[in-house]
Amino acid sequence: MRFFVVCPGGLEVSLAQELASIAQRPDCKALGAWVIDPTPTSPTGGVGLAAPLSAAMALNLHSRIASRVLLQMADAQYRQEEDLYKLASGLAWEEWFSSKQTLRVDVTAHRSPLKSLNFATLKIKDAIVDRLRDVTGDRPSIDTAFPDVRVQAHLTATHVTIYLDTSGEALFKRGWRDEKGDAPLKENLAAGILAITGWKPSQTLFDPMCGSGTFLVEAAQIALAIPPGAIRSGMYGDDAKPSRLAYRPLVTSAHGFGFQRLKPFNEASEQKRWVALKEAAQAEMIEKRKQFPDSGSLGISGSDINERLVAMFKGNWQRAQLPGLPVTRQVDALASKPPADAKDGVMLLNPPYGERLVIKGGRGQDRTAGDAERDSYEDVEEPEDRFAYNLETGRQSAKRSSRESLKKLQSEEEQDPKFVEFLRQFGQHLKDTFGGWNVFVLTADMALPGQLRIKESKRTPLFNGPLECRLFKFEMHQKRDATADLK
Ligand SMILES: C[S@@+](CC[C@H](N)C(=O)[O-])C[C@H]1O[C@@H](n2cnc3c(N)ncnc32)[C@H](O)[C@@H]1O
Repeated sequence: MRFFVVCPGGLEVSLAQELASIAQRPDCKALGAWVIDPTPTSPTGGVGLAAPLSAAMALNLHSRIASRVLLQMADAQYRQEEDLYKLASGLAWEEWFSSKQTLRVDVTAHRSPLKSLNFATLKIKDAIVDRLRDVTGDRPSIDTAFPDVRVQAHLTATHVTIYLDTSGEALFKRGWRDEKGDAPLKENLAAGILAITGWKPSQTLFDPMCGSGTFLVEAAQIALAIPPGAIRSGMYGDDAKPSRLAYRPLVTSAHGFGFQRLKPFNEASEQKRWVALKEAAQAEMIEKRKQFPDSGSLGISGSDINERLVAMFKGNWQRAQLPGLPVTRQVDALASKPPADAKDGVMLLNPPYGERLVIKGGRGQDRTAGDAERDSYEDVEEPEDRFAYNLETGRQSAKRSSRESLKKLQSEEEQDPKFVEFLRQFGQHLKDTFGGWNVFVLTADMALPGQLRIKESKRTPLFNGPLECRLFKFEMHQKRDATADLK
């Protein structure tokens, strides 16, 4: 089978590495051979692979960086809407789901000659519905909020590719976050950034502006070998309890993954494989818990100036079923100290940068259409979660929109000497207090190194939804011991 694994723009290399390591797991090797496409050199918004059908289960359970896992159903040339209808109605949908299940269709396009994507969506939807009605005598109904089955199509100038989505809810929704901090990061972007930093669970990790703690919860799950899909796959038995402040419905094991609602995955042989995958993951979790029995043993900690966010971080940590309470306190980053006096470690943060300004940008030639109006829940999903195959122009338009907003943002920052002064002081604090540390900062502010007055040793372009960012790496030199000269 052909799969396309979608990820946030800029994480393709990290995703390809992650897919390769998932493929190397003994339980995944047992499923059959995987051939991962060469790592894309341009931003494709994902990585393709050929693998047995069961690989979809392993990918949904284990990929921390993926947004979705799409199973390719057809790829063909087209010229007009009628060609889409013919192609979609020729596919044996009845072998994948029943007319009792609800459906949602989404179409994205890059340079498609078709005038209306909504009409193209309608054609594909009609084709699927008509096919099922002809075969079963019944029509599936449409549900845009929580459909049982999602079909995605992507149109280029000449080709249409039709996919069945095996993820259901986007994979960044792990099921532990129901509280929104100040611009929290998507969980899969945070996991991808952790991969770029090269952080290992044996190293100290500290986030002095941790907000709701996305980096830290993801890191703790990596250290404890907790699969990102642990909650959704029901590995814990109990789902996380939503808090009073829940801003979006928690994704639970009842939502699970899209593949669980597709017929071929419900056959006894696949069910057996699914159970084996979960058991193997469970065994690893038990082993790692022995190594890290409590939060103190993890070496992962964070702080934030905002008490409310510190409380949110605690709630997220608990809902993620991590041990005890996280090591955290409410403190100004300008007063933060290396945890446990660590002489080195990885600091990772995304300071406030006003990204809410930026989300409003247009998407140039890229177009997206789906079933009816998107409800507000879907509105918070960003383009790569809907379908990022067409990131090339997405990138251009995102660049445009983020550039405009950035100008606005930078001019606002220029008007806000307090923020500029804060960054100068923070840079000095890093030099004074965190010698020996590697500091990684995710920001949309390209001028950040100048404002911190520290030269970066590396910059990695990344997309936080439509917002173009950089992950800056600063290698803080050990301060020379002034008394050493006197000895
Ligand atoms: C963009 S948010 C970080 C989001 C976080 N990564 C998350 O996953 O939720 C920036 C955070 O910086 C915190 N912050 C702002 N000024 C601060 C300061 N002087 N010291 C510590 N934290 C600060 C804010 O309270 C906010 O939580």
